[in-house]
Amino acid sequence: PARTPAAGRGAEVLVASNRGPVAYTVGADGALTAKRGGGGLVSGLSAIGPETEAVWVCAALGDGDREAVRRADGELPAADTGGQRVRMLDIPAEVHAAAYNGIANSVLWFVHHMLYQTPLEPSFDTEFRERWAAYEAYNAAFAEALDRAAAPGAAVLIQDYHLALAPGMLRERRPDLRIGHFSHTPWAPPEYFALLPDDIRERLLRGMLGADRAGFLTRRWAAAFVACCTATLETRCAVHHSDGEAPHVVTAPPGQEPHTTQIGVHGLGADAEFLRERAHRPDVDERLTALRAQIGGGAGPERRRTIVRVDRTELSKNIVRGLHAYRRLLADRPEWRERVVHLAFAYPSRQDLAVYRDYTAEVRRVAEEINAAYGTPGWQPVVLHVKDDFARSLAAYRLADVALVNPIRDGMNLVAKEVPVVSDAGCALVLSREAGAHEELGEDALSVNPYDINATADALHAALSMPEEERVGRCARLADAATALPPARWFTEQLTALRG
Ligand code: F6P
Repeated sequence: PARTPAAGRGAEVLVASNRGPVAYTVGADGALTAKRGGGGLVSGLSAIGPETEAVWVCAALGDGDREAVRRADGELPAADTGGQRVRMLDIPAEVHAAAYNGIANSVLWFVHHMLYQTPLEPSFDTEFRERWAAYEAYNAAFAEALDRAAAPGAAVLIQDYHLALAPGMLRERRPDLRIGHFSHTPWAPPEYFALLPDDIRERLLRGMLGADRAGFLTRRWAAAFVACCTATLETRCAVHHSDGEAPHVVTAPPGQEPHTTQIGVHGLGADAEFLRERAHRPDVDERLTALRAQIGGGAGPERRRTIVRVDRTELSKNIVRGLHAYRRLLADRPEWRERVVHLAFAYPSRQDLAVYRDYTAEVRRVAEEINAAYGTPGWQPVVLHVKDDFARSLAAYRLADVALVNPIRDGMNLVAKEVPVVSDAGCALVLSREAGAHEELGEDALSVNPYDINATADALHAALSMPEEERVGRCARLADAATALPPARWFTEQLTALRG
């Protein structure tokens, strides 16, 4: 039942996401170490800074986090969070695992990135229903925590597919709030979304439509969401497109007043100021020297070229096909042998899921195969790094002659936006047309169909052969487009629109 919170208490702005801005580990001596949380969502939201006084509600993800929650008195210590106000929820570990691994990562992520091999998967059975119950409980825990923490009329920005039900649940408890939801992933087209059981599709859409505003990274994902609403809810929703304005979806839950959800598009950009400053600190210079030694070859115009990729080892990032394309380049164009090195950074991700562990092993295997087939005593064609190191990623960005970003499907892909901002000599960008970033960067990138290995090899050749003047010009335009909406503005833009 709706209730009015005690006046004068609670936060005016709240953010909610599964992963928060800080992650803890417990040492052998019992001491806690805090580290910045990873991923695109965290990079985007971290720029909101302590000055907004927003309270960030997130889940405890491991033993270190749980211990930190036990020791904290409500909010985590400001010294650990860079001043950001953070509340971590200690959701029971088995509920979190079933919701995060069992639904969010292996069902919703797969649907929106269209990753299923459909002759075998998915199958929705009793075990799925049990995991779904955990997903509901996990969303309910967030709705309850947000209800408790929000001041009357506060703005609440709920993030991503982990929390698709939370907007509706929160609205039921607190109709006074302004609720936003933002999707950092692509959105599936209706025919693919229809893989999900009918009641689950409806629950997900109604959950998100509980928000006053549903935001997406590109027009394409926003349009897919609206198309899914029409296809799934049929006459139980109405879509209004007014001229020059974002569409609105109106739903009338049984026995309730009609509710309007405005659809918004906010293309998160790179943070140029932060990246350029961070990329010139001594730890990055140190990594730069080490990478140069690994690349080898001479200096000057004849120096070895670098093709750089930096990803989580994520199925949708298409790392294996990227390696195959590089092998094709070396096979078909022997002139590049000894003259180019592929710096491939693939950082472990979601290793609780067997399919991710297998994929990680396959990345390693193909990289080793290429090195065995083409390597010479003075040249290692692929330099693969799997240990997450932000300073080394930035060093690779600076060195890049070519950035390879070839996902099967991606909400945005911030690497595509970050490399042109940081690259020292101006890089060329080989970019999948299925990445959200393609909507803004397509004009100056070399676009590829991510499934077409030969076309990707051709694009790598074109990128490596691009005359310097053209490469530098394109890179400057890419950097401009990439920084059009820096994270802090991306956030305030949404907040302003939500408060309407
Ligand atoms: O929406 C994508 C996202 O949630 C981003 O935060 C990040 O790119 C990635 O997924 C992180 O995934 P996880 O939190 O499962 O490591």
